[in-house]
Amino acid sequence: MRRVAVYPGSFDPITNGHLDIIERTANIFDNVIVAVSNNPNKDHLFNRKERVEMIEEATSDYESIEVDAFDGLLIDYIKQQEAGIIVRGLRAVSDFEAEFQMASMNKKLDSDIETIFMMTKNKYVYLSSSIIREVSELGGCIEGLVPENVIPRLREEIGGE
Ligand code: COA
Repeated sequence: MRRVAVYPGSFDPITNGHLDIIERTANIFDNVIVAVSNNPNKDHLFNRKERVEMIEEATSDYESIEVDAFDGLLIDYIKQQEAGIIVRGLRAVSDFEAEFQMASMNKKLDSDIETIFMMTKNKYVYLSSSIIREVSELGGCIEGLVPENVIPRLREEIGGE
């Protein structure tokens, strides 16, 4: 049976921290679906089509990685994709509380679906999409922190670098 994992998030934009989790997940599962959400509590810089495109470009070397967008409950999307696993990255202890809450709620909604956590690589633990946007906006160097294809997109969108 094909083992499919879903890695959900807002990816505004994808960072090398996300990419590291995606690649390591692809080494474990037959297929990885990177599922891009629209979080109503966040002001997105890039629209969802742009966020999906950036991830597609960054993962184009991997046949087993698919990029998709979803609305509504993550659990419903997982069932629709016939995937059994949610993957989340953990950067620091501060991520734990929110992740614990989400994983517990998802388990309550469907006890057959498992959430697994992957430690973010040490060199990326301080990264987030919003810190990348901020540094880029203020003209700081984000080389090596996001996939190469993301840099011109950020430059175009908010200037910087
Ligand atoms: N490297 C770099 N950054 C990382 C990271 C890593 N390995 N892991 C997490 N992050 C950062 C992200 O960049 C993001 O930063 P930002 O806040 O500056 O944008 C932050 O951690 C968390 O964002 P993300 O992982 O995208 O989570 P989210 O809170 O935006 O969305 C969903 C999480 C999509 C899984 C959740 O909102 C969801 O399931 N939505 C669907 C609706 C639903 O089912 N709700 C009920 C859930 S119980």
